This record gives sequence, structure tokens and C-alpha cells, in this order.
Amino acid sequence: MVQGALAGQTALVTGANRGIGRAISEGLALLGATVLIGARVPDAATEVAEAIRASGGKADPLVLDVSEPDSVASAAKEVARRGLDVLVNNAAIKLEHHPSPPSRASLADIQATLDVNVVGTIRVIQAMLPTLLRSDRPRIVNLSSGLGSLAYATTPGSPYRERPLVSYSTSKAAVNMVTVLFANEFCATPLRVNAVDPGPVNTPMTQGKALRTPVDGARPVLDAVLIANDGPTGCFFAERGEVPW
Ligand SMILES: NC(=O)c1ccc[n+]([C@@H]2O[C@H](COP(=O)([O-])OP(=O)(O)OC[C@H]3O[C@@H](n4cnc5c(N)ncnc54)[C@H](OP(=O)(O)O)[C@@H]3O)[C@@H](O)[C@H]2O)c1
Repeated sequence: MVQGALAGQTALVTGANRGIGRAISEGLALLGATVLIGARVPDAATEVAEAIRASGGKADPLVLDVSEPDSVASAAKEVARRGLDVLVNNAAIKLEHHPSPPSRASLADIQATLDVNVVGTIRVIQAMLPTLLRSDRPRIVNLSSGLGSLAYATTPGSPYRERPLVSYSTSKAAVNMVTVLFANEFCATPLRVNAVDPGPVNTPMTQGKALRTPVDGARPVLDAVLIANDGPTGCFFAERGEVPW
């Protein structure tokens, strides 16, 4: 990756205070972007922004709870003032543990998960779009998961079939569709909209059950940010390249 490739650009990462979102933010700063550290807890956003600045990058905190319309609206006002080139929809929750069969899933968990992972993602995209569309090279990257792939879920023997997580998997399948529909709407413009599976990564979400690091998970996300204006849109990527929906 070319250092300085994103010089002069502004990026927003949601859920940037920890895990993969923090690693994506650090990676974007290394590429030269000014990174808005979206987090729902102000001190958490400030801590990450200060750490990036201390290592020579550009970053500022931005309070943003994707499930709160007022929070997203006030973040969008600040983003409109500063401009925006890159939006990474990383914030998500996973309330269940493997396996969570559909027949026994909690409706409350399903509703809460869809609210953050799907409605929250759409809410943030809609709020930031007018500013993104002013950019010469606008990018949206939505964090998905192999658990959201219908192809994997219907492949006998696949771990994704054997270990269902009905609310989380359904939410990521919906994020995939959201990605395709926004990509289709804007396919004649420079806006590129793609989904990325970071793969299994050791973060608070996986509670030590994965071996790869947040930096490993951030890598395919940064690749999707760096796609050219005439590059792919409406695609699903992982570290090994394009993967099936
Ligand atoms: N880890 C993996 O193996 C893996 C695999 C595939 C896909 N993914 C995806 O990668 C992304 C990052 O996952 P991760 O493992 O880094 O998770 P994580 O450590 O649990 O971090 C999730 C982030 O989302 C934030 N968040 C949750 N609800 C929010 C809300 N309402 N508004 C704003 N921010 C909110 C959290 O903020 P708080 O600290 O305030 O809670 C936190 O910063 C997610 O989209 C996840 O689904 C992860």
C-alpha cells in the first residue's frame, strides 16, 4: 500500500474506538487521510484520535451512535462542514453465541441487532451521502462477514452452515444487499460501494476465539478504500479477493 495515497482526503469510520475499526482508522491515517474517529463514547473517540496524532497521523473525534438519529444528524452536520471522501461502516453488535438456531433465537436480540447493523448502516449512509457525493473519489465500505453469505450458509460442511447465528448472520446478509442496492443506484458516478469480510479476528466481539489481529482484518477494508473510480462496485471482498454472496 502506498503511503500518502489518501493525502488530502477525509475518512469517517464508525465504531472506530476499538477492534477492527480502530485498526482501519490507524491504517487510513498511515495512508495520509484525516480520519474522523466515530464512536458513541466521546472519551473513547478522543483517546484513539490522540493516539493517531501522537504517531504523526491526522485524526479527530466524532461522537456518533449509529442507532440514534439525532447523533447521526449532528455528526453529519460536522461532516458536511469538513467534507468526506471515505465512509467505512464498521460499527456492529453480535449479541448471540454459536450456535444460535433460528427456532430458539430471541426476538429482542434479532431486533436490536438489525437496528444497529442494518438500519444504523443505512442511516449513516443516507446522512453522509450528500457530502460524499461532493468528493472526486467517494468510497463506501460496509463491514460484512462470511456469516452473511447465503452461498456459504447453503454449502454442506461449511462452518458457516454448521454454526448459525440467526440475528447476526441475517444482519450481515442484509448489509450485503444494502451494499448492492446503493452500488446499483450510484453505478454511473465515481462512488464505489463494496462489502468486505475481514475474516475471523481476535477482538472483543470474538472474545479470543479467533487468531488473526485487527490489522489483518483491516487490510482488505483498506484495499476496498483504495479501489479506483472505475474499479469494482457492488462486490463482496475478503483478503483472498472477491467472495460469493
Ligand atoms: N471480529 C471478527 O472476527 C469479525 C468477523 C467478520 C466481521 N466482523 C465485523 O467487523 C466489524 C468490527 O468488528 P470487531 O470485531 O472490531 O467488533 P468489536 O470489537 O465488538 O467493535 C465493535 C465496534 O462497534 C461499535 N458500536 C456498537 N454499537 C454501536 C452503535 N450503536 N453506534 C456506534 N458504534 C457502535 C462499538 O462501540 P462500543 O465500544 O461503544 O461498544 C465498537 O467500537 C463489525 O462490523 C463486525 O460485524 C468482525
